[in-house]
Order: sequence, then structure tokens, then C-alpha cells
Amino acid sequence: MLFNVIKLSRFLKTMASPNMKAIQIKNAGGPEVLKYEEIPRPEITEPDDVLIKNHFMGVNFIDIYHRSGDYKIPLPAVLGREGAGVVDSVGNNVKDIVPGNQVVYFGSPSYAEYTKASSKYVFKLPEGIDTKTAAASLLQGLTAYTFVTQAYSVKKGDWILIQAAAGGVGGLLTQLVKSFGAHVIGTVSSPEKAELAKKSGAEHVINSTSQDIVKEVMQITNNEGVHAVYDGVGKATLETSLTCIRRLGSLISYGNASGMIPPFNIYKLSEKNIKLARPSLGNYIYTKEEFQQYTKELFDLIINGKLNIKIWKIYKLNEVRQAHEDLAQRKTTGKLLLEP
Ligand SMILES: NC(=O)c1ccc[n+]([C@@H]2O[C@H](COP(=O)([O-])OP(=O)(O)OC[C@H]3O[C@@H](n4cnc5c(N)ncnc54)[C@H](OP(=O)(O)O)[C@@H]3O)[C@@H](O)[C@H]2O)c1
Repeated sequence: MLFNVIKLSRFLKTMASPNMKAIQIKNAGGPEVLKYEEIPRPEITEPDDVLIKNHFMGVNFIDIYHRSGDYKIPLPAVLGREGAGVVDSVGNNVKDIVPGNQVVYFGSPSYAEYTKASSKYVFKLPEGIDTKTAAASLLQGLTAYTFVTQAYSVKKGDWILIQAAAGGVGGLLTQLVKSFGAHVIGTVSSPEKAELAKKSGAEHVINSTSQDIVKEVMQITNNEGVHAVYDGVGKATLETSLTCIRRLGSLISYGNASGMIPPFNIYKLSEKNIKLARPSLGNYIYTKEEFQQYTKELFDLIINGKLNIKIWKIYKLNEVRQAHEDLAQRKTTGKLLLEP
């Protein structure tokens, strides 16, 4: 009898779908809504699915917007938009990726031990890129790379203002703009961040807490202003960014770290015929071909030593609240990663 009970319990254990640890939110709010929970592990259900055992998962500002409700998502939800690890299993249509491959992926819920992603947004890691570097570089790297080539095409000799130049995206933008032969003016909020922005290639660094950004930019550019501004800070810097742009210049407004920009009268752009772009990475890497091409080009830059990936800190998955707080409170420089 006892033997049969043990056998039955073993059988039931193998039948039940395995669980995994994940960070889930059931309602929008502060970091306290991030719950470390046990939930069912995702399974392959579609022919293009890839199931990945995560090694590292990227933390991005968009995760904060999803958590806070600034960007609405269906709830409950596992947060996270990128990660890297090893392939566990694949759907029937997936031929170029096999179990055991090391990969990086974009777009699927990643704050978990396992993630199911669409093969369209899964990239097999080349020699020279490990899962840590891949997870640390994908979303922010593709953002910076597509924004300097597609949103505004940076040219040699341009003057470019980069707000939050020591941040994740800002640090990568600074390196890329400099490598194109343009001049970078970066803004930061502390002397430590100023040092980092200089190391990334900023020719001039303005401390936004103690200096007048417009005055400094005009002095540096002989009162002409800059050809383009990259601004991921949003609400707090919009006016300053517009004032710093020269006639016929461009504003690439790509984020809201300080808050969402309120409704804005586009007539204001006519004062200098400014071009305004509000790009989203997702629309530059929408097709499989775009995602694969830009990711390959990004990794080539890293492998060839042209783009340096700076990791701020690796947090345990159950320390995710701290990661969100550090990012929102301007404490970080470079990339925040989670590990299961
Ligand atoms: N459009 C897209 O597709 C896309 C893709 C990726 C990221 N983004 C956006 O890009 C922005 C930057 O993302 P990131 O991950 O690279 O972050 P991050 O730049 O590492 O962190 C944000 C930085 O913004 C600056 N900041 C100024 N005022 C702030 C405030 N009130 N609260 C918080 N930060 C403030 C801080 O730098 P200082 O202390 O030096 O001022 C802070 O370190 C975010 O808005 C993000 O959503 C957009």
C-alpha cells in the first residue's frame, strides 16, 4: 500500500508542469508591487516558439513604466523585455536555433528563470559575445545604434547634445556619436558621472545641477546651437533641449525618465524649423530581418572593440525592487542586470 502511494506521488510530480521563479505584478504601483513568485514554467505551444533558460535579464526604464502604469499592459504580468541564456527547446518551425545554443532575445517577459520568445526576436550569439554582454547590450545598444543611424543620421563634424550622457542609453549614444566623428556635449548630474561621460567620448560635459545648460551649449557652439539633441529625460529637459538646437536642427525625444512630456504645441518647432522625432526601438527592429541585421551590426561593434558595454550591477532576481529604485533614483550608470 505504502509502495503504491509513493509511486502515485512520483507519477503526479512528473505529470504536473514544472514551476519557476519569476517577478510578477498583479497591479500597477511602486516597487512594492514586484512579487517574487513561483509560477508555471512556459511551454512551447507555437511552431515559432523558443524556450530559453535565462542566464541574465536586462532591467530597463520601460519596466518601470510598465510597473507604474505609465505604459499600460494587461495584468497580471511578468515584467522584463530582454534576456540571454541557453535554449531549452524549440517549436517545429525553428531550424536555425537548437537546444543548447546560447542566445539573446528581445521583447518577451524576462524577469523569470525561463522565457518563451518568438524565434523572430531570438539571436544566436556569435563567438566573442557571452550571455552577460548580450543581455547587457541588446535593448539599449539597439536603441542607441538605430537612433544615430535612422532617427537622425549623425554626420562627421556635427555638434550633438546628449542628455543624461552617463546613463545606459546615453553612454552608448556618446560612444557611437563620437565614433562617427561628431562632437558630443553631454549633460550629467554629478562629477562622477561627468568623468564617465568624458571616458565615453564627450568633448564637453555640463553638470545639470550646477550649470546653465543653454548658456554652456551656446558658448561651446559660438551661439549657433547643436545640430541635434538626444533627450531621454523628457519632461524636465524638453524646453532646454529645444532652446539648444540650431536653426534646421533635430530633436530626438526618446524617453521620459523625469516624467511624461505634457501636450505640446508643434507650432513652436517653426521658430527654427526644428525636426522632431519620437522614435521607439520596436519600430526599427519590427521585422525578423531588421532585428537580425541590426543585432549583428551591434555585436560586430562590440567584438571589434568599437563599443564598450558598461555593467553597473548584477542583482539577484529577488532583489529586483532595489534595481528599480536605483534606476529611478538616478543612482546608476550603465546597465543593470538580473540573474536567476
Ligand atoms: N524610445 C525607445 O525605444 C527607448 C529605448 C530605450 C530606452 N528608452 C528611454 O531612454 C531613457 C533612458 O533609459 P536608460 O535605461 O538608459 O536610463 P538611464 O539613462 O540609465 O537613467 C536615466 C537617467 O536620466 C537622468 N534623469 C534626469 N532626471 C531624472 C529624473 N527625474 N528621474 C530619473 N532620471 C533622471 C539621470 O541621469 P543624470 O543623473 O545624469 O541626470 C538618470 O541616470 C528612458 O526614458 C527610457 O525609457 C527609450
